[in-house]
Amino acid sequence: MNTNAFRSSWNCRPRTVVRGLRATGALALVALALLPVRAAENVWLGSLDLSHVRQGWGQAQADKTVTGKPLSIAGQKFEHGVGTHASSTFWVELGGSADRFQAAVGVDDGTTSDKASVTFKLAGDGRTLWESGVMRRGQPAKPVDVEVKGIKSLVLLVGDAGDGTDFDHADWADARFIVSGAKPQAVSAPAEPAVILTPKPGPAPRINGPLIYGCRPGHPFLYRIPTQGERPMMWSADGLPATLKLDPASGIVTGTAPDRGEYEVVFNARNRHGSAKRMFKIVAGDTLALTPTMGWNHWYAHYDRITDKLVREAADVMVSSGMADVGYQYVSIDDCWMNAEKNADPLRVGPLRDAQGNIIPNRHFPDMPALTAYIHAKGLKAGIYTSPGPRTCGGFAGAWQHEAQDAARFATWGFDLLKYDWCSYGEIAEKDPDPELVKFKKPYILMGGLLQQQPRDIVLNLCQYGMGEVWKWGAEVGGQSWRTAGDLGFELNRIFEVALKNAEHRDWQKPGAWNDPDYIQIGLIGNARGMGEPMPCPLTPSEQYAFMSLWCLMASPLFYSGDMGRLDEFTINVLCNPELIEVNQDPLGQCARVVPLGAETFAMVKDMADGSKAIGLFNRSEFPAKVTATWVQLGLKGSQRVRDLWREKELGNMSGEYGADVPRHGGVVVRMWPGP
Ligand code: GAL
Repeated sequence: MNTNAFRSSWNCRPRTVVRGLRATGALALVALALLPVRAAENVWLGSLDLSHVRQGWGQAQADKTVTGKPLSIAGQKFEHGVGTHASSTFWVELGGSADRFQAAVGVDDGTTSDKASVTFKLAGDGRTLWESGVMRRGQPAKPVDVEVKGIKSLVLLVGDAGDGTDFDHADWADARFIVSGAKPQAVSAPAEPAVILTPKPGPAPRINGPLIYGCRPGHPFLYRIPTQGERPMMWSADGLPATLKLDPASGIVTGTAPDRGEYEVVFNARNRHGSAKRMFKIVAGDTLALTPTMGWNHWYAHYDRITDKLVREAADVMVSSGMADVGYQYVSIDDCWMNAEKNADPLRVGPLRDAQGNIIPNRHFPDMPALTAYIHAKGLKAGIYTSPGPRTCGGFAGAWQHEAQDAARFATWGFDLLKYDWCSYGEIAEKDPDPELVKFKKPYILMGGLLQQQPRDIVLNLCQYGMGEVWKWGAEVGGQSWRTAGDLGFELNRIFEVALKNAEHRDWQKPGAWNDPDYIQIGLIGNARGMGEPMPCPLTPSEQYAFMSLWCLMASPLFYSGDMGRLDEFTINVLCNPELIEVNQDPLGQCARVVPLGAETFAMVKDMADGSKAIGLFNRSEFPAKVTATWVQLGLKGSQRVRDLWREKELGNMSGEYGADVPRHGGVVVRMWPGP
């Protein structure tokens, strides 16, 4: 039953001709009298095509909550409306023919937590028309009655009120348009052309990659000098430690890491178009990953379909696409390379371990040492995955009670990185009487120690979704990076929120210790919930640029997780801008500081080792915006030389402030050097 108190005040009166006549002359009177009279009518929001609603969890439902229950706000029931979930965006084309939008909004009673808090907002043709403020569970429905006459595009937005989207069941109850013309149409957000911003690399050599590189003395050393430019190319190095050698034709350095110490090397590259130089400091000591790790991980492209063949293909494409020439290095296998007790794919079912307790890869991985050798021959590195629990998240064999054996196995197989994913370890932790924080750390202390005992460098990526504020202790247990949150694949419509949350932990980040907000998911990726086949990602081109910009400014590990076999030119362009990657790989290792600008705009400011600053201006709103930041906000003084990094273009000297037109859900990134 609809008990909406203010319903009676809603205006559904037919339009009378008389109203239109007052200010018109006799001619117009005649003309109008001939027009058919249209009565204003109600068009329920729920009657529109709700498949266009983009939201953080579940699907928008007509006349029901997001979980399919009757709509109810603070005990008040509603027959009509749309149940959605923060963060939600719904574009409706009104074409100027609707008069009013009316609704009662609030958090649905069906949510199970008091943490639920949302904001509702209506934006019309780029202007905010109405805002609810923060609404919580149990708060009575707020009436909305907004004139939308003349508005062409209306956007209905539900935000997470800044505390994440968990439990945020939001209702546009009794929502309707009062319309006297054409019926409103639900539409997708405006399509954007995939504009390539970065000029193609020239034919002359350009050496990219980190300026500083950590390794452990006496361990195998492998480094492919990331260099753009036409082949053939010849490389040489000055100051290379005697234990290392450089193959001049491939630019791959191999050998044994030198004794503890710092070694200043200069790499040179030459081809028929010119030459280039770049510093490379080798620090032989205890710290690996002195700059954020870069590579590819199979998860969001291939899920439980991963095979040896697909991993080899990724290694091939990392080189042929130019990704390796800007610094991508690790080719990483995620879950599902082991056997499971049960699986739809019979080739992934078999004994979990041999008689000696050694882990057995499934039949899609016939020869792990051959696979890592294939990757290493290209100068790239290999990554693998397991869980401290008895089973991985995908239900495959985990490392529980075989940790030492598995760590040794990964080393002998030739792996250079391990992602260690909590998954079923919860079952073990549950029975452990130790305090929570001790339990969170325990499996990682064990594996961190074991990896350090191996005769090769193996980078450890902790994956436990941020539990126990992992950023505070991830480095101390032997990790080089740690996921700060759950799977980003489930939250692709929240990249800004996820990035802002990740950046809150900036003080804990330093060279060798990186906050990891998860992989770059652009190009072709499989829907994370359905673990589907790779399809074009749901992000707009501007969102994809913003994604990469945020990750570079935060100095996050840069792992592409999409289909390498079908990389297109646009995706390669977003992944491979060397000036953005230089921001990511800067030796200071700083995560940018966030500077709020407007309600939906902010800047990120990252100090660079050379005294310059990398600055991103971001626009989270549904419409293009001019975003401006002053020198005070950015921590700058005097004249600055400004360079647009995506376009690789000098913008000249500026003082006082910098502003840019930033597309909907987009960002621009500039670098500023004290000038002139
Ligand atoms: C999740 C993890 C993902 C992926 C997946 C594999 O727990 O966060 O990144 O590794 O497991 O099952």
